[in-house]
Amino acid sequence: MALTITDTASQPKTEIHPDNYRFLQDYIYRESGIVIDSDKHYLLEARLMPVARKQELSSIDDLCNLLKATVSTGELRQQVVEAMTTHETLFFRDLPQYDALRTTILPALIEQRRATARLSFWSAAASSGQEAYSLAMILIEMGLRDWRIEIVGTDLSDAILDRARAGRFMQIEVNRGLPVSYLVKYFTRAGLEWELKEDVRKMVTFRRMDLRDNLQTLGPFDVVFCRNVLIYFDTETKRQVLQRIQDTIHHGGYLLLGGAETTLSLVDTMERVMIGQAVAYRVP
Ligand SMILES: C[S@@+](CC[C@H](N)C(=O)[O-])C[C@H]1O[C@@H](n2cnc3c(N)ncnc32)[C@H](O)[C@@H]1O
Repeated sequence: MALTITDTASQPKTEIHPDNYRFLQDYIYRESGIVIDSDKHYLLEARLMPVARKQELSSIDDLCNLLKATVSTGELRQQVVEAMTTHETLFFRDLPQYDALRTTILPALIEQRRATARLSFWSAAASSGQEAYSLAMILIEMGLRDWRIEIVGTDLSDAILDRARAGRFMQIEVNRGLPVSYLVKYFTRAGLEWELKEDVRKMVTFRRMDLRDNLQTLGPFDVVFCRNVLIYFDTETKRQVLQRIQDTIHHGGYLLLGGAETTLSLVDTMERVMIGQAVAYRVP
């Protein structure tokens, strides 16, 4: 019996015309600030083919033609941006930073703000909300329930913000980073998911915001989390975003970045401080 060996290398490949590749790089950069390097064909294909199929198109090139023809179609534009953004997040991601908040940053801020009993925070690329909600739970644990606490979570993606607002998480999500004692205390079972209790949910307000926009309607904040989003931007965008974020932070307040991010050689006015194993940036 003859054996049929499938040679995957000889199968037709979905290819993106070089002009369309450059068009997509420009388009995604313009709409989100996200930089797509020239060797990310597989990424564009994996993320954008579902968008193409939804439009009943069979290739990325056809999708590009549609995007070129319908410049102002907000819905399609949003679908492309949603598809290209990475929403990876988890509860208490980067534990040393939460330890720094608990042991040093928050106690100092509490002393400074005792008269007004008011503190404000911003999770600047909030994704599905785990970062903002981790902070909310810490603040409750620290006995700040009676303070006027403002936590704002913003993101470019409407779809992910809807998830954040719902405060519902799958088992796999609560298994990642969330202490069991917090799961028991702050969540209730909702079918196959876990729902954050209302008193935690209502501490956070979510709204859509492109970090490249004018941020003057926000703040001033005591602590800003801008974690794991600058990595997607080019140097100039990073510089501008960091400068604008700095302007939203109170003197003496802090900026927390992701592990692969820094203000170094971008904005030199913030003071880099080590607190335990965490790095934080203090606004003088
Ligand atoms: C990897 S997640 C980071 C989530 C969370 N901060 C963390 O560290 O776990 C990056 C988020 O940045 C958002 N994002 C990408 N570009 C953005 C922009 N220009 N303005 C605001 N948010 C953006 C994405 O939608 C995504 O939810």
